[in-house]
Amino acid sequence: MTTINDNYLKLKAGYLFPEIARRVNTFAEANPDAQIIKLGIGDVTEPLPEACRTAMIKAVEEMGDRSTFKGYGPEQGYSWLREKIAQHDFQARGGDIDAEEIFISDGSKCDTGNILDIFGKDNTIAVTDPVYPVYVDTNVMAGNTGPVNERGEYEGLLYLPITAENNFTAEIPSDRVDLIYLCFPNNPTGATATKEHLKKWVDYARANGSIILFDAAYEAFITDPSLPHSIYEIEGARECAIEFRSFSKNAGFTGTRCAFTVVPKTLMAKTSSGSDVELWKLWNRRQSTKFNGVSYIIQRGAEAVYSPAGQSQIQQLVDFYLENAQIIREKLTAAGLTVYGGVNAPYVWVKTPSGLSSWDFFDKLLQTCNVVGTPGSGFGAAGEGYFRISAFNSRQNVEAAMERITDKFKAL
Ligand code: MLT
Repeated sequence: MTTINDNYLKLKAGYLFPEIARRVNTFAEANPDAQIIKLGIGDVTEPLPEACRTAMIKAVEEMGDRSTFKGYGPEQGYSWLREKIAQHDFQARGGDIDAEEIFISDGSKCDTGNILDIFGKDNTIAVTDPVYPVYVDTNVMAGNTGPVNERGEYEGLLYLPITAENNFTAEIPSDRVDLIYLCFPNNPTGATATKEHLKKWVDYARANGSIILFDAAYEAFITDPSLPHSIYEIEGARECAIEFRSFSKNAGFTGTRCAFTVVPKTLMAKTSSGSDVELWKLWNRRQSTKFNGVSYIIQRGAEAVYSPAGQSQIQQLVDFYLENAQIIREKLTAAGLTVYGGVNAPYVWVKTPSGLSSWDFFDKLLQTCNVVGTPGSGFGAAGEGYFRISAFNSRQNVEAAMERITDKFKAL
């Protein structure tokens, strides 16, 4: 008899966002006239920057001409894109990252899951609570956890609570862990990390031979010039960190798909017999075997992000979503809610009113205001009593959603 990967059976119900979509669809079917505004999943709404579109159109034409046609590209990505990323995103900010250390991919969600392919099964793993659910679920699928308990926590993972009391930045664990997932600007809380905070993690990781999996998918939303955009702005990070970046949220590529992962050549981990191995070699091997690269057309579009026109156009997009976040913060605060985040991040993290549970608030908001957000408890037990509102939507929808919440707040 064919058997399955039993670890999948340990997973809690559905993945968070499809579960929300399911509930919203049920509501919409029962209420066909409701004008639902979705501020749940962090999916962009604004059109692709002109510079990217122009570059992609040119690339399509090249593909239609025998002399410029391209077949398979390098699995790691084209060097012209990797060089621009290295120069612009890292070297220009004091990060010592070389183009060869950058691996172009079709998304950070896939990369943060796929990275587990190159790690052993006996690692101790720490995640924050709340956390982007992909880090947890992919560890469950890989067999790195035991069963889930009634709080929704998996045996074998170390959960580091992030709460208002610690500014939504986890304390350094007293015990040793092998892999640590950090995400700044944070999804879901919108919190940021200072250089001093990241330095503590880098020092901890180096002292303990740990590896930090640093998700910086939202770095473009940092407005405070003192905050680091990359972990490689911290001395010593080349020896202990992998970083994940994406064009999804800054350049609107959620439907277009382009991202990258940085694996420094100086980053080592141990074989089961205790010898050192370069993780770069393993990731390069993994990608060469399981991935055939991002399409030429899309990589040309991503390259255009680094042109002067592309830079100014993506800044306009980021500013637009940040203005949405500011409107959400101001309106919800005026309505009497306590809000966090949304200043250097596109997510506003809201304390639910009157002690409502996250899912109860979700249902009330959907039924009373026809507005969709994301229940904080979907990101982990410590997210209970919170709610995430995404700033990714049109101005009209954000304003309409805030107006509805303000008008009907007493009913919530
Ligand atoms: C979210 O809403 O948390 C995002 O859509 C996550 C993602 O980009 O996968």
